[in-house]
Amino acid sequence: MHIHRYEKIWLIFGIAMLVVFLAVLGIGTFARGAEPPGGHRHAVDPETVDQSAPFNDPGLKKIGDNEYEATMLAFAFGYSPEKMEIPVGATVHFNITSKDVVHGFQIPGTNVNMMVVPGEINHLTYKFTKAGEFLVLCNEYCGVAHEMMQTRIIVK
Ligand code: CUA
Repeated sequence: MHIHRYEKIWLIFGIAMLVVFLAVLGIGTFARGAEPPGGHRHAVDPETVDQSAPFNDPGLKKIGDNEYEATMLAFAFGYSPEKMEIPVGATVHFNITSKDVVHGFQIPGTNVNMMVVPGEINHLTYKFTKAGEFLVLCNEYCGVAHEMMQTRIIVK
């Protein structure tokens, strides 16, 4: 009765896989719940994020003396808004999230570089001390048009 023995092995194997799967899920949930060291993130629903404030109206908002809040949305394959004008010397608090997959947010020539994770509001603060045009690039591979994904920040 070899068939019977194989069935038993497969049954044990199946249960073992289920246990492993549940353990991985459990660890995953735990890891998501834990605050990353030095990070500052908030949970958000990527499906509806572009319909609810503040992500329904992305852009620059003045919050203080030459201090701004930049609400941005990353998606395959671009950023919203497409272009932003920032006064020289402004401190900008970026709040950015993704509507779909993981994107990047990097401004070459500065230390601005972060991952844009869907389901989370990713924060970063930067002071634009010199005038010029800055390109914001996606540095996380996100699909066929990843190379084209960019937006501009004009500091003047
Ligand atoms: Cu978005 Cu690469």
